[in-house]
Amino acid sequence: MTTSLNPMKIVVVGHVDHGKSTLIGRLLHDTGSLPDGKLEELTALSERRGMPLEWSFVLDAFQAERDQAITIDTTQINFASGQRPYVIIDAPGHREFLKNMVSGAASAEAAVLVVDVAEGMREQSRRHAFLLHLLGLRQIVVVVNKMDLVGHDEARFRTVEEQVRAYLADIGLSPDAIVPVAARAGENLAARADAMPWYDGPTLVEALDALSTAAAPLERPLRLPIQDVYKFDERRILVGRVEAGSFRVGDELVFSPSNRRARVRTIEAWNAPVAKLEARAGEVVGVTLDEQIFAERGDVASHEASAPKLTNVFRATLFWLAERPLAPGDTLKLKVGPDEASVTVEAIENAIDTQTLGRAPTDAVGHNEVAEVVLRTREMLSLDDHRANPAGGRFVLVDGFDTVAGGVVSTEGYPDQREAMRVKGTNLYEVDHLLSAQGRAFRNGHRGGVIWMTGLSGAGKSTLAMRVEQRLFAKGYQAFVLDGDNVRRGLNADLGFSPDDRAENIRRVGEVAALFAEAGMIVVTAFISPYRSDRDRARAAAGDAFHEVHVAADLATCEGRDPKGLYRRARAGEIGDFTGVSAPYEPPQAPELVVDTSRQSIEACVDAIVAYVDEPLAVRARAVGA
Ligand code: ADX
Repeated sequence: MTTSLNPMKIVVVGHVDHGKSTLIGRLLHDTGSLPDGKLEELTALSERRGMPLEWSFVLDAFQAERDQAITIDTTQINFASGQRPYVIIDAPGHREFLKNMVSGAASAEAAVLVVDVAEGMREQSRRHAFLLHLLGLRQIVVVVNKMDLVGHDEARFRTVEEQVRAYLADIGLSPDAIVPVAARAGENLAARADAMPWYDGPTLVEALDALSTAAAPLERPLRLPIQDVYKFDERRILVGRVEAGSFRVGDELVFSPSNRRARVRTIEAWNAPVAKLEARAGEVVGVTLDEQIFAERGDVASHEASAPKLTNVFRATLFWLAERPLAPGDTLKLKVGPDEASVTVEAIENAIDTQTLGRAPTDAVGHNEVAEVVLRTREMLSLDDHRANPAGGRFVLVDGFDTVAGGVVSTEGYPDQREAMRVKGTNLYEVDHLLSAQGRAFRNGHRGGVIWMTGLSGAGKSTLAMRVEQRLFAKGYQAFVLDGDNVRRGLNADLGFSPDDRAENIRRVGEVAALFAEAGMIVVTAFISPYRSDRDRARAAAGDAFHEVHVAADLATCEGRDPKGLYRRARAGEIGDFTGVSAPYEPPQAPELVVDTSRQSIEACVDAIVAYVDEPLAVRARAVGA
């Protein structure tokens, strides 16, 4: 027996009355883990009350102690098998069970789902299983309880086993074992049951002992969250626990979200007799770098090729715990790994029915409901998709001091901002022009500017852009249109419509437009540019010269027009990632101008844009010339 192990953390869940408390009480007894005298105490108590001893009293007793002793953390119940110690985080029966489950299961390594053999999967069995999945738990042992009440009937067990397996498979979970037990009689918990000779699988304790303490997966990409930065002499030592993967002295690490890079100079370990050359998952290490880059608590170090995604907007599936509904625009605190950030609910897309697993569009999430949402933060976050990294891809939302939601991250549908944040060249020295912007404006009679049109495909961006160009030219402006369908045949011929490609499309166009504007031209762009972060970057490239015009025709109108027949093909599944159909469009929040081609004529829209250009661009330019 090994004694130095950390206890494995488990949660026990299941429908009310399916026998969680009895199971835990009996398990503590059968593994010799009850405190001395506890059983006698409870037996005496039962006799005084004139009722038979129930194993669930064990938990009631713990609960009573917990209610009195607020300072003692008794939400943890310890027991040990011959193999290792366990701690059950979160006792069932607690009045805030689901809330505790979200915080508890978020750190648990395995779960036990209790299902009554006579009843099969019930509402809470499904809800709890779904939550386990949602919280990133992938090790699950199912106990089919109360076998004694159905005469230890194998056929009945197999039916429930099938039902459980089918539901779990639907949510992407595969149970490590499904064990028929009679918790009250202690059958197949710690000891094998004579009454079920047809069962040759593990007992509950054997099934638990067979689980891995998957705390530190070595084969996964490196994730080293920085917990602290120490200064020793002149050296800065970054300290953290390697959550996954490994790295060596000399490796180049990239720190997220700052996106800075440096090489590992030394790996410091507290009691290593010789210099360490490699650090592996599970180890707590200190790292010194070859360059003094600014890294701080909350940063995550990884290798470039397998770095987490950098983004400030992501999809999530979450479970909402608060009484009041969650609505778009709500702002909460997000905790993901060591990182904390303020998030705003950008959109609520679908409600998920945990019973049928059906999805339906919704715009609010009620108490104890599950939904797919889009969350946005102000700063960049480094995120892992929960499917690739179950532990790193889960989060909780906090309102004040209250945990109000738990969920998992999906990194699909939004671009990685890492490349866009990076200047690859080094030894660059900016050269100044000898001509001034004012001089150019004087010559042209107007300032340069970027009229950035954004809107759905079919909203009329190209039509408007070409007419605006014509009208501006006639009025003496130097004007030129950059259009999506045109630029994508040349400069951006290497790009498709994935979120990353679109980000790169807009990054290039944003830079080109800024150069046009600097050259003194009025450049009118017509790109869907669906992502706010991409347009913000284009704005940053052009500075004051940037003017965002939302060409705001709604989806139904654009789809009705369908000038290129693309919506029809997108609906038929022939075109993937189609904006408005299978890829998001994020409307501008504070555009300089809005024109709506579904309510205004093309002429009226063109007039509005030309008038806008006349105002801030030309008038000021005339003042320059005067
Ligand atoms: S953007 O999203 O990257 O800004 P852009 O404006 O350059 O898009 O290109 C949009 C044009 O590409 C559309 O007008 C349409 O003709 C064509 N297109 C082809 N596939 C798609 C798609 N999956 N989503 C949107 N537009 C597409």
